[in-house]
Amino acid sequence: MTRITRAVIPAAGLGTRFLPMTRSMPKEMLPVGRKPVIQYVIEEAVDAGITECLIITGRGKRAVEDYFDRRDIGDNEENAHLDALIDQLDIYFVRQKSPRGLGDALRYAEPFTSGEPFVVLLGDTFTRPSCLPALIDGYRRHRVSTIAVQSVPQELLDRYGVVAGTPCGDGELRITNLVEKPNPRKAPSNLAVLGAYLLTPSIFPALARTRPGKNGEIQLTDALRAAAEAGRLVGCISTGRRYDIGEPLSWLLANIELGLADPHTHQAVRELLAELGIGEGDSWPQDLPVTVL
Ligand code: G1P
Repeated sequence: MTRITRAVIPAAGLGTRFLPMTRSMPKEMLPVGRKPVIQYVIEEAVDAGITECLIITGRGKRAVEDYFDRRDIGDNEENAHLDALIDQLDIYFVRQKSPRGLGDALRYAEPFTSGEPFVVLLGDTFTRPSCLPALIDGYRRHRVSTIAVQSVPQELLDRYGVVAGTPCGDGELRITNLVEKPNPRKAPSNLAVLGAYLLTPSIFPALARTRPGKNGEIQLTDALRAAAEAGRLVGCISTGRRYDIGEPLSWLLANIELGLADPHTHQAVRELLAELGIGEGDSWPQDLPVTVL
């Protein structure tokens, strides 16, 4: 059985949706609870069996590199937890020379992946529960690239890659086409690309052939179209709650969910919500829309 042990984490995006915070701070370092968002992403990868990770950075992202140095200092549970996490994998960095899009960033990962399938997780986004086990399982059964998709409200479709396809199993579809940030009225479906991918090495020649697309950037979505047209791309429908921390509202909601989940802060957050009139009987947060922006 193929073991998937490598993850690529693009973290070179400019963070314009979270200005002015991101003037001097990488969006991947925005705190959610007591940790920066990129740590949740790496934890998700390690939980899925990843042992080597390549983080693609760029201008202004040095804080991301420094964060993953082992720092055996102080008596702090979270700090010790991070050191233990760092011990579980090797982390490599490469700098994207200029911000030319997700597809361009991924091209830097070719030597790292050594001709093996690998996962891609965005450095500012995580899903609870993780969609990685489903992607890895989907790859083992179909032997083609698998990507996570999720239904989103129509008016938000122009923020995402959007797929068309036909059902091919429980919670899966064979993707026939995909479009980057379509006009919502012309989108092929309401299934958006979440930003978690399991890719085969065939993506690299496809990326090399891909010309600038939406916003003048090299789009991974465009590079995946050839695989879709050849019937070699599967979508796994995720029902997890997705947090795109580069977006301020999503960041806020993630902090509330994790604040409620953390035994250290659970009681205080509940008390605040009760004081604000959000009582026991209310359905929030379970009934939040699945994709939080
Ligand atoms: C990228 C991808 C897009 C995907 C999105 C998920 O867009 O290009 O297909 O739907 O991530 O967040 P970006 O958010 O970098 O504009």
